[in-house]
Amino acid sequence: MSRLKVIVVGVGFMGLLHARAVQGLRSAELVGVVDLNEDAAKAAAAALQVPAFTDLARAIAETGAQAAIIATPDPSHRRPAEIALEAGLSVLVEKPLATTVEDAEAITEAARRHGGRLMPGHMLRFDARYAQAAEVIRSGQLGKAFLLTARHWSTRSLGARVGHTTSPLWHFAIHHIDLIQWIGGASIQSIDGAQALESAGGSSAFLSLGQLSNGVGFQVSTGWTLPDTGGRSTEFEAHCEGGVIRITFAPGGGLTSWNSERGQEVEATAWPTIYGRLEGLLRREVEHFVEAVLDGADFVVTPQDATAAIRAAVALEQASIRRAVP
Ligand SMILES: NC(=O)c1ccc[n+]([C@@H]2O[C@H](COP(=O)([O-])OP(=O)(O)OC[C@H]3O[C@@H](n4cnc5c(N)ncnc54)[C@H](O)[C@@H]3O)[C@@H](O)[C@H]2O)c1
Repeated sequence: MSRLKVIVVGVGFMGLLHARAVQGLRSAELVGVVDLNEDAAKAAAAALQVPAFTDLARAIAETGAQAAIIATPDPSHRRPAEIALEAGLSVLVEKPLATTVEDAEAITEAARRHGGRLMPGHMLRFDARYAQAAEVIRSGQLGKAFLLTARHWSTRSLGARVGHTTSPLWHFAIHHIDLIQWIGGASIQSIDGAQALESAGGSSAFLSLGQLSNGVGFQVSTGWTLPDTGGRSTEFEAHCEGGVIRITFAPGGGLTSWNSERGQEVEATAWPTIYGRLEGLLRREVEHFVEAVLDGADFVVTPQDATAAIRAAVALEQASIRRAVP
């Protein structure tokens, strides 16, 4: 079996998980890690037993990488994606593909110009619940969709970790915007209201509602507002003329452990470790990327889908009323 040589760029929280996902595949080989922060690169390289680099072009030349996974912060996806695509690599870019339509189009154009494969990492497309919901809606068994709603609440400590480079809109709602456009079968066309709410205590939320071009209504509420003791939740509903389909779960997958001081959600869905190997949605996404590159097959998420989500997110951000809570 031929193995795809993969390099991971940006080995913070997500990049390390991607690297472990690659190492768990028989169809791929992790050939190196790249991070602008030399200490981060070296620590990841030591843990994963692969070479460390701070310069992507050099890493590609020295490792012979055929594919790159970009897991740098949201606004820093374009440059490494362009370098990898220009070098002829296939590229998986973490969501959001970019935070401006201009950057998303530049990355897509780099892929077109250099013939590289480009897959945006919209991981929830690999969640059986959303994939099944999309199938049910598409089959027509519930009649025409009328209203799609999504909400996702996470912890303030997550906001403290990622809030300097992103926001609930770009960190969470971009997932739901992509799901709504995918499951609803059309792009967001009009926005009836949007609010970005921030508190001095570290809570932050993004709320919005509007309509897709086929008339389907949507509502999205996300944010980091919760203590670490628990309560994370996700719900997605598609109200149709002939019924409703609802996905509801705690993001960890409903697995909680308690000690004498507090409860803690244990990750059981997105990237759990089972018998020493990284499993879950992230592994499914990385495996799909690697196998589609090796087989020359289509990706289930396209750069056009990701750019449509970015276009909608930019419009929602511009339309939003920003409010601070002292
Ligand atoms: N799919 C999901 O559910 C999910 C979850 C969390 C994060 N993410 C996405 O993953 C990406 C990374 O998030 P994170 O939480 O791991 O961030 P992070 O801050 O933990 O790690 C980012 C790393 O990238 C490095 N870096 C920054 N610019 C770089 C560059 N130009 N070249 C090389 N390295 C660079 C930083 O030094 C850091 O080590 C973001 O786009 C985020 O939205 C996705």
